Amino acid sequence: MAKKIFSGVQPTGNLHLGNYLGAIKNFVELNNEKENKCVFCVVDLHAVTTKQNPKELRDNILETVATFIASGIDPKKNIIFNQSSVPAHSEVAWILSCIARMGWLNRMTQFKEKAGKDKEKASVGLYSYPVLMAADILLYDTTHVPVGDDQKQHLELCRDIAQKFNNDFGADDFFKVPEPLIRKEFSRVMSLKDGLKKMSKSEMSDLSRINLTDTDDDIINKIKKAKTDPMSMPENLDELDKRPEAKNLIGIYSSLTENTLEGSIGKFSGMNFSQFKEQLAKELVDKISPISAEIKKLLKEKNYLNKILLEGSEKASEIASKKVKKIHEIMGF
Ligand code: ADP
Ligand code: TRP
Repeated sequence: MAKKIFSGVQPTGNLHLGNYLGAIKNFVELNNEKENKCVFCVVDLHAVTTKQNPKELRDNILETVATFIASGIDPKKNIIFNQSSVPAHSEVAWILSCIARMGWLNRMTQFKEKAGKDKEKASVGLYSYPVLMAADILLYDTTHVPVGDDQKQHLELCRDIAQKFNNDFGADDFFKVPEPLIRKEFSRVMSLKDGLKKMSKSEMSDLSRINLTDTDDDIINKIKKAKTDPMSMPENLDELDKRPEAKNLIGIYSSLTENTLEGSIGKFSGMNFSQFKEQLAKELVDKISPISAEIKKLLKEKNYLNKILLEGSEKASEIASKKVKKIHEIMGF
């Protein structure tokens, strides 16, 4: 059945292997299924929940668009736009913030992680960020949302908000309740320096992540230096579960080669890490290198990237404004 897909990526720089394997690679697969309708959003309003430099933000927005296209998303077939260019997102976020309950938001673990120890100093936007995310999704009658594992809780909140709105206003099925699309076997790429920490844009050490703009030498070097344990390669899934760094590297290999974890364990069991790392680096270079080259090429064509955003925002506005009109009617505005 045709799916309506929506997903977002923050333009905060350094898109990495976690973003690629957790989210963008799935966007590409969904965009390849002919009947699907996909909307991919550069969520710049989400980015400003933490302080951004305006010039860098503008560059990062274009780099995110370039990354989508370089990874294989077809801008002719899908809608690619930036969130701030469609005001309906902010408006509906406000409306939904009157539906969502404090108790629901208080449970969000990502806020706790991102706000850190001094919650009093976090922006109000960082706290209400999942409500804006719900607005993004619900405006487009989205049926499926491809995301990394870390966004699961935000999607559950979005589903609760949709159901409460529908119930409160007796508007059965007005907001579609979306399904998350999260990879089953390996949904969270971890830091190359610590198998218990998520690979992230904001991690200080660049050696902790593979950026989609890394050169072949960067990739080879980072994999060589990636943390491992002193044992040889694991022999079964139980053993793998107890060894976070091995699990992460085998997970990355499996995801890149479309293999199961079990299949990859079978291929490398008993070998030294250095032998495995060579193969892993080779797979990474094969996959990332063409993307990296294409991103660099596209970044020289700023007019082209801006045109995609402009066309995308016109199409997105058309869909979103119809939904907003109906919301106004339902609510008595
Ligand atoms: P980040 O979480 O790095 O700041 P975004 O918030 O823009 O990046 O995330 C974009 C997408 O990438 C989301 O769907 C998110 O779940 C996914 N993602 C981010 N980091 C990882 C990771 N380490 N493993 C798997 N998916 C990830
Ligand atoms: N909150 C997501 C993240 O930090 C990004 C995002 C914003 C998103 N709006 C969305 C993802 C809508 C999926 C659907 O990664």
